[in-house]
Amino acid sequence: MRLSSRLPPSFEPNALSAALARSGSEGREILDLTMSNPTRCGFAYPEAEIRAALSTPGVLAYDPDPQGSQTAREAIAGHHGQGLRADHLLLTASTSEGYGLLFKLLGDAGDEVLVPSPSYPLFDWLARLEGLHARPVPSYFHDRWHLDLGALESAVTSRTRAVVVVNPNNPTGQFLSRTEWEALTALCARQGLALLVDEVFADYALEAPADRLATALLDPDPPCPVFLLSGLSKVAALPQLKLGWIAVRGPGAAQHLEALAFLADQYLSVSAPVQAAAPTLLSLAGGIRDQVRARLWSNLATLDGALAAHPRLSRRSVEGGWSVLLRRPAIDSDAACALRLLEQHSVLVHPGSYFDLHGDGTLVLSLLSREATFREGLRIGLAGL
Ligand SMILES: Cc1ncc(COP(=O)(O)O)c(C=O)c1O
Repeated sequence: MRLSSRLPPSFEPNALSAALARSGSEGREILDLTMSNPTRCGFAYPEAEIRAALSTPGVLAYDPDPQGSQTAREAIAGHHGQGLRADHLLLTASTSEGYGLLFKLLGDAGDEVLVPSPSYPLFDWLARLEGLHARPVPSYFHDRWHLDLGALESAVTSRTRAVVVVNPNNPTGQFLSRTEWEALTALCARQGLALLVDEVFADYALEAPADRLATALLDPDPPCPVFLLSGLSKVAALPQLKLGWIAVRGPGAAQHLEALAFLADQYLSVSAPVQAAAPTLLSLAGGIRDQVRARLWSNLATLDGALAAHPRLSRRSVEGGWSVLLRRPAIDSDAACALRLLEQHSVLVHPGSYFDLHGDGTLVLSLLSREATFREGLRIGLAGL
């Protein structure tokens, strides 16, 4: 039987994933410098409080609201501040699901969304599975990463429905500047496009410039429809609880929320327990984020110490987020380099090509890794570059 052409032609793992599976079956210990699952990074979660929040009487009640429970939305609005209200929000099971709902809301089969490049590799599939085409628009690096607003505008066609930005971006860490925000919202208004702003990492500003747009919610009245995505997976480092949200602003916000609630009503995918627990989870999130931030800074300092002994290597500054870009002379492809590090040195890094950073000698490391693993992985890995 023929399956949908929206699916990939094969589900074969790539060479790095296949090599990793082989190392696993051989029982080899890997120094994983790509670990981005916070539940495996040794953080001291307030376990008793999290469990108690997930076992209140409210978790047994089923009283679905397609927009998500009022109390959960109030807690999320309180977390963001900036005049955001519960009725501006719609809950989802994850940011990925949020993208799916927004692509259903905005596009017809064959329409396009403009996505940043380099960035989060899931956009292509998330768009494709909704029948849309994600067209990458390259950002450029000049002292720091910049959106190429000229390229964005030239990429707009009669099929373009939306622009996606990630603030700060993954894996480049780039925050939008306030000037870029003004120009971007004006462009979207001029071209009749929606603007999707993924701010899952907005709480993790590191070496961020003063002119950064800390959050798109600083703009109370944007000239184009703005859909901000975030969720507990990064805000509270609790990806397993599956709670994301979309905040809606700009022209037509009330109608957009009504249509999103219609879409969400077909699935009602957000569980009652996580909605009941959301106010407590958000009240605990600050303490968890502090630990994550301490880890990011500590690993960045370890990286700088290690790089001092390797003048051929360098790193990009990390404006925000959980990743760092490591730069090396591009004597072989970054995919070949990552494979060599894994097979010969048991060190796992991601090639830049995973994120559309092609051929310029970039490797991507997660700053979330446990400190001892990160230090040892760098000691061995940098010497192998
Ligand atoms: C930019 C970006 N958006 C969204 C997500 C996923 O968020 P969620 O777990 O809420 O789907 C990630 C995960 O790493 C991400 O990097």
